[in-house]
Amino acid sequence: MKKKGGFTGQLGFVFAAAGSAVGVGNLWRFPYLAAKDGGGVFLIIYLVLIVTVGFSLLTTDIAIGRKTGMSAIHAYESMNKKWKFLGVITFLVPVVIMTYYAVIGGWILKYMLMFLMGGTKEAASDTFFTGFITSTSSVQFALIFMLITALVVYNGVEKGIERVSKIMMPILLVMVIAIAIYSLTLKNDLGDGTIRTGLDGLRVYLTPDFTGMSIGRFLQISLDAMSQLFFSLSVSMGIMITYGSYVKKDVDLGRSISMIECMDTGVALLAGMMIIPAIYVFSGVEGMAAGPGLMFISLPKVFDCMCAAGRIIGLVFFILAGFAALTSCISVLESITANFMEIFHWERKKTTGILSVIYLAATAVIALGYSIFYVEVLLPNGSTGQLLDIMDYISNSFMMPFIAFLTSIFIGWIIKPTWIAEEMEYGGRKFHRKQLYNVMVRYILPVIMLILFLQSTGILNML
Ligand code: PHE
Repeated sequence: MKKKGGFTGQLGFVFAAAGSAVGVGNLWRFPYLAAKDGGGVFLIIYLVLIVTVGFSLLTTDIAIGRKTGMSAIHAYESMNKKWKFLGVITFLVPVVIMTYYAVIGGWILKYMLMFLMGGTKEAASDTFFTGFITSTSSVQFALIFMLITALVVYNGVEKGIERVSKIMMPILLVMVIAIAIYSLTLKNDLGDGTIRTGLDGLRVYLTPDFTGMSIGRFLQISLDAMSQLFFSLSVSMGIMITYGSYVKKDVDLGRSISMIECMDTGVALLAGMMIIPAIYVFSGVEGMAAGPGLMFISLPKVFDCMCAAGRIIGLVFFILAGFAALTSCISVLESITANFMEIFHWERKKTTGILSVIYLAATAVIALGYSIFYVEVLLPNGSTGQLLDIMDYISNSFMMPFIAFLTSIFIGWIIKPTWIAEEMEYGGRKFHRKQLYNVMVRYILPVIMLILFLQSTGILNML
């Protein structure tokens, strides 16, 4: 293995990887899907998938990274020259995601500021979110977020990424737990004899709702859970390969992977527990149909309904969302930086400097995608999108399932799962889910990933 920076130990690695995994996906997308997909039904399916599919994908990426000691492009090339192309496509996912992730970070920054300055009422108004993203001032916030990300990556793996993750992740965990508990204590007297409580909301969240359940709906929920899991674990985009390459040989990979799975799923479950009861109490079941607008439109309204406490809870919520987004954004930039450093043999500071300039420009363009560069493009899955949605669609719906499909074929049938198992068992460690891993990577993942790819590209619907 080449001599390069790395994590100091297991804890640093786990916090950094969990930092990448825990992001806006956990806070916004997971609760919204749970509310849409029959509460407990979605939760059960998701939990089963995380310990099977999620575990296999995460194990593959991290083991490839540590064994080769390199990032996606060179890692795949070193395993098999003919498969370098897979490394290149994998590397392109963060390249695409990086163009828009700081834009979302900028939105969070703006809301943080609104709650800090006491603008709760204004943030809760119907037109605030759209007004903000369509104004050119949203660019400043996106650029600030991008600069903070670049600064951390500039400082390196140990002094930048590990240090920030070790501080932010524990604070984030405490904040999510605190707001989740607070959410359960909420109460709203509607004045007509009904009182809605946080505990009722919790029941709505956890109870499996089988009404209208058919095979088609079950499949739909499973596919939703599957694509969420991908995005949430930051797998199949080379990020975990890069982070894996920074892990020392004496770290127990199996245990680390279990801890990352637990943290990512734990925060997602807690996010549901903090958001769904709160929305239920103030807006009822209908309020939960908000979909993508949940985080920036529905939640500020809920904070506004909480009166004085709302300003503080809102501020804490957007701080924790900011931490979650920052540690994820850092991992995206780090993965691009690491590949560049390996390809061009540049040193870190120069690489980050060059990439910062490129991505400040790209971030500005995407942020202006709601004003100056406004477009409406019909995506293959039927929805219309602006620049940000197009980038999101290309990376998450199109590239990631395709990469996971090819990777499972490559590992399962060409490299063979024992190659991964050797790394998991390095130094006499036990690879607990070895049999499960073999079956998943050879038989199940290729099929599931192909179905997911056909579904998210809209091809399945055309058949
Ligand atoms: N895993 C992050 C989340 O759940 C999202 C993410 C995607 C992070 C891609 C990095 C790269 O929000």
